[in-house]
Formats: sequence, C-alpha cells, structure tokens
Amino acid sequence: MNITSAKFVMSNSDIKKCPIDNKAEYAFIGRSNVGKSSLINMLTNHKGLAKISTKPGKTQLVNHFLINDQWYLVDLPGYGFAKVAKNTKQRFSKLIFSFIESRPNLINLFVLVDCRHEPQTKDVDFMEWLGVNGIPFSIIFTKADKLSKQKLSENVKAYEKELLNSWEEMPPFFISSASSGLGKEEILNSIDETNKT
Ligand code: GTP
Ligand code: MG
Repeated sequence: MNITSAKFVMSNSDIKKCPIDNKAEYAFIGRSNVGKSSLINMLTNHKGLAKISTKPGKTQLVNHFLINDQWYLVDLPGYGFAKVAKNTKQRFSKLIFSFIESRPNLINLFVLVDCRHEPQTKDVDFMEWLGVNGIPFSIIFTKADKLSKQKLSENVKAYEKELLNSWEEMPPFFISSASSGLGKEEILNSIDETNKT
C-alpha cells in the first residue's frame, strides 16, 4: 500500500470528541520516547506530521490523522515514563485505556518497544491486559538502527522467550527504524490486509 495523503484531523483530551465516522483506526502505543510519533512520520513520508521530541512526554493528546481519505492512524501519549509527573501519568493512562475500550473501529493496536531494552514489566503487563480484553495488537521493535543485526536478533529472541511465559505463541511483530525506513513496507502491508473498509 502507498500512502498518498496524510492529514492531521484533530487532537483530543476527551475520547467522546474523537471522530465518529466509522472509519477504520490503527493506533500506536508504547512507553514515552519509544518512537511512536517518529514511526507515524516515517510511514506517512511526512516529517512534521506528528510532533516528535527528545524529551519524553511530547504527545499528550489523542491525535487522529486521516490517511488516503479512508482510514485513521492514531498517535497516542506514551505510558510509564518516570520523569512525567504522577498526575500527568494517571491522566495519560486514563486517556489511553478509555480510548482502547471505546473505539469500535480500532482494528489493530501497534505496541512499540525499544529494541535495545530487556522486556519491561509495564509493556508485558499491558500486552497481557490487551490479550485478556481481546484487543488485537502487534508489536513493533523500534530504533533498530541503534543495534547490530546480531544484538537485535538476540533481543527479539529474549522478548519472545519472556512473552511465551504467558502467550501460547509470539504475537505478530515487526522491526522498524524511523531513520532508515526499515519495516515500513511490512507494517503498511499488514494494515492493508486487515483494512477492508
Ligand atoms: P512521546 O510522544 O513522548 O510519548 O514519544 P514518542 O514515542 O512519540 O517518541 P518520538 O517519536 O517523539 O521519538 C523520541 C526520540 O527518539 C526522538 O529523539 C526521535 O528522534 C528518536 N527516535 C525515534 N525513532 C527512532 C529510530 O527509529 N531511530 C533512532 N535512532 N531514533 C529514533
Ligand atoms: Mg509522541
């Protein structure tokens, strides 16, 4: 699939105000600074579409982008970064969970994890919660340009091992780099395959 147009539609702190026009949605979620906004810009060939920052906690609202006038990519605030004030963290979590639980057209959630890190309890617990609640998701290992191929493959294996403690099989996963464009085709193809609207 080619993305021929990507337009910012709206930012919301109130889930009730998100678009209600029945279009399919694909959302990007994960810890602050993992690279959600950068990945959205990479996928859409649009450098300034989603705001990025070296400082965690940049995305604070639910942002809808209309793709090819047909479906939405959704950029969500990050969860679980220690440097964000506690009440801000709680606000983000509430926003994220109410988004996930209230969007009937959410086709898939992409859960981003930094490929350099060991499996983090927050991410593993979050995936378990998604499983229990029947929310379809796939994993994206981000920032692959920061590791050697060898180390990357070791880290992905370690992640798989951890998840197999609670999952019968490894959920679908992708490896990406917002700087090199790695993973773009696979991620867009997976969206294309599930988007029948
Ligand atoms: P919040 O909105 O704060 O939750 O963060 P985010 O997950 O949207 O991360 P963002 O895209 O703002 O990126 C955070 C930092 O990581 C920025 O400095 C990016 O340039 C950098 N970054 C993101 N993706 C990649 C990548 O694939 N490779 C490299 N080398 N850096 C990346
Ligand atoms: Mg962001």
